[in-house]
Amino acid sequence: MPLLLLLALLLAPPMVRAQELAGHGGPVRALAVLAGGGLASAGFDQAVILWDPAAGQARRVMRWHAGALAALAALPDGGLASAGEEGRIALWPTGGAEIPSKVLEGHAGPVTALAVAADGGLASAGWDGTVRIWAADGTARVLQGHAGPAAALAWTPAGLASAGADGTVRLWETAGGRVLAEFGLPLNALAALPGGALAAGGADGFVRILQPGGTVREWAAGPSPVVALAVAPDGGRLAVASMGGSAALWSVADGRLLHGLDGPGLPLWSVVFAADGRSLWTGGQDRRVRRWDAATGAPLGPLAGAAEPAPPEGADAEGARVFRACSACHALGADAGPMAGPSLHRLFGRRMGSLPGYAYSPRLARGDITWTRETVADLFTRGPDVVTPGTRMPVQTVGEPGDLAALLRFLEVATR
Ligand code: HEC
Repeated sequence: MPLLLLLALLLAPPMVRAQELAGHGGPVRALAVLAGGGLASAGFDQAVILWDPAAGQARRVMRWHAGALAALAALPDGGLASAGEEGRIALWPTGGAEIPSKVLEGHAGPVTALAVAADGGLASAGWDGTVRIWAADGTARVLQGHAGPAAALAWTPAGLASAGADGTVRLWETAGGRVLAEFGLPLNALAALPGGALAAGGADGFVRILQPGGTVREWAAGPSPVVALAVAPDGGRLAVASMGGSAALWSVADGRLLHGLDGPGLPLWSVVFAADGRSLWTGGQDRRVRRWDAATGAPLGPLAGAAEPAPPEGADAEGARVFRACSACHALGADAGPMAGPSLHRLFGRRMGSLPGYAYSPRLARGDITWTRETVADLFTRGPDVVTPGTRMPVQTVGEPGDLAALLRFLEVATR
């Protein structure tokens, strides 16, 4: 994990544009469209971020997990489930919270997938080879059969389906499960299609469509392993991301390539369709969440109403550019709406963790640092995880000395 973070930090973030949500300190491995219309993302930086996509802002950062995150699932009540490396599954209420409303424990290893059924039932899959279906009281039905890690899940009208590193797709109508297909190579992704069919993404770069009757169709989506699949709400299109960096929209009916996703942010680690099927959210290596046109595969222009703060009069223009990496979470003025981070208004001279009304982590609430040019520079040179271990602010540094100086010049004027 430290290695992954290090790698992520080495990949300098490119310019942020308004259709991109910058916030994570590592690759974005999971996305979920929430019942209330919001969007959640989770990544290798151990953080879950709740976004208001219309405003282009982060509403909340939840740093509770003690490892990289791999899976998210929207719950019918507007809440969210998250899980990853450390094996615990956290259930979060609508709008997020300081700590999960419930923690589900049982997996003896990383959790790779979460899936919620139409009736709200939550299922998980893990490296321990098990698939679990959780009851409201926190107990689970443990389903065993995969020889090796279980990698992906999808609910079908016939029950829960899973795909594993052992190359099998299984249907768990009964406790023992039934092998629907055996492909002889690791499977990484699974998606439920209309009519009970399934799409499976393989390590060989192929997508395979399994019909309920047992027939299989396949096509090569790219030369490298498929890492993520998403089905459009109408069931007709499939978004496929491959490890090498290719991502495209395919027609399910005939396996025809509709559009490549050609734009910034590749390679992708996660993909979901918006509820109306018109746009697509992706998360990837560059730590950004991006929006695409699902009809054309083009990267989308600025979100309606995206709050790109106009730099205050006299503020450093170069620093304003650097601050875009912060603007999804921090306001500069006194009258900030609900954002993930505290307003930075009158930052210099302020004690850490002292903005009234903001719920800080215990580490920042300790207040043992006073924010000055020097202490803010230190925070983003060594990183919040080093200077204030336990903070909720995602891992990030401003590597270029010139950028850091510009950011400080900007903050000095803009936070006054
Ligand atoms: C994904 C959201 C996010 C991003 C992006 C982000 N921050 Fe933060 N920041 C937070 C959160 C959350 C806190 C409060 C952390 C806590 O309580 O542990 C915080 C705290 C801070 C604090 C301490 C404030 C105080 O009142 O003590 C400073 C200073 C700060 N951030 C500056 C920045 C700057 C500068 C950037 C851009 C380089 C940035 N942040 C990027 C979420 C973010």
